[in-house]
Amino acid sequence: MSDVLLQVENLRVYFPVYGGVLQRIVGRLHAVDSVSFTLHRGETLGLVGESGSGKTTVGRSLVGIVAHTAPDVLLGGHAWFYADHANPEPADLLQLFAHRRKYPRQLRLHYRRHIQMVFQDPFSSLNPRLSVGQIIAEPLEIHFPKLSRTETQERVVWLLEKVGLQPEDRMRYPHEFSGGQRQRIGLARALATHPDLVICDEPVSALDVSIQAQVINLMEDLQEEFGMAYLFIAHDLSVVHHISDRIAVMYLGHIVELGPADDVYFTPKHPYTQALISAVPIANPRQKRERIVLRGEIPSPLRKPTGCPFHPRCPIAQPECSEIVPELEEKAPGHWVACPYA
Ligand SMILES: Nc1ncnc2c1ncn2[C@@H]1O[C@H](COP(=O)(O)OP(=O)(O)O)[C@@H](O)[C@H]1O
Ligand code: SF4
Ligand SMILES: [Mg+2]
Repeated sequence: MSDVLLQVENLRVYFPVYGGVLQRIVGRLHAVDSVSFTLHRGETLGLVGESGSGKTTVGRSLVGIVAHTAPDVLLGGHAWFYADHANPEPADLLQLFAHRRKYPRQLRLHYRRHIQMVFQDPFSSLNPRLSVGQIIAEPLEIHFPKLSRTETQERVVWLLEKVGLQPEDRMRYPHEFSGGQRQRIGLARALATHPDLVICDEPVSALDVSIQAQVINLMEDLQEEFGMAYLFIAHDLSVVHHISDRIAVMYLGHIVELGPADDVYFTPKHPYTQALISAVPIANPRQKRERIVLRGEIPSPLRKPTGCPFHPRCPIAQPECSEIVPELEEKAPGHWVACPYA
């Protein structure tokens, strides 16, 4: 059996831009453009890039939030998900979540159970009116309706212990916890359904550095115990390098580099990745790294440059770069780069 869990092919997410008195669609914001990647069972794929590069949109489109919350959005491509060991046929998550009437709710629930999400801001993603016990019980009640109340409560206590909280904590409310503890609650809720994939969108970005390390360690322990894959979205490259098996670098809705975490971090090949890595502080003061300062700001996805999206800022741009969109090429084993001049 193949160990592929998720195969994303040419994912495109174009949001509508409304204008005029009638608020008609006057344009399209290309948040994600032709993104392809594979995620294996139990693997951690890091997704990095500056703010606005489309990372969150990739994650949200895989769990149906984009289709659900943005009317008139154009979604293209496929996201094949191999949730069932027994059934080798994958389901296309994009179709499943986009066509609510076409597919039965049961089928959507089945896949939703296997993919959970952890958000950056655990305060706004945890319902403040529910106790921690109710928050963690909620997915159990939806996905395992046959469990008795006592069984559900037992599972809640077990999950709390798994994430380093106390059984009594189920009586308390989210505001009574610190940021790091709230992220533990978010993890317990995500784990309740035994997912195959947890999409973590900047899960530690809002936390103090010391707390970040604790939550990252916990995430690694949980992965070792439960074997789920992570799609780990963040803008902090050193955090992503620490936790990931492979890293994908996004720029203006495109993956520009994808490869084993050490290769991308220590020998980046795309000029954009090189600039990003050059800005990561090094702990050893005797070591020095030349910082590559890029010209200008990341352009708006509304006015995306033609050709290579990076060409207006690229230190090695060639005349052809404004015309041809470079495809990912395998420059070293498993190390893909979207730049013919890299
Ligand atoms: N619901 C939405 N409607 C319109 N534009 C959106 C929506 N969500 C995100 N965008 C736009 O898509 C682009 C990518 O955003 P996002 O995926 O949040 O990037 P990142 O997570 O890398 O910061 C941004 O320009 C953002 O403004
Ligand atoms: S294709 Fe051209 S502009 Fe794009 S990264 Fe390579 S050299 Fe730079
Ligand atoms: Mg984001």
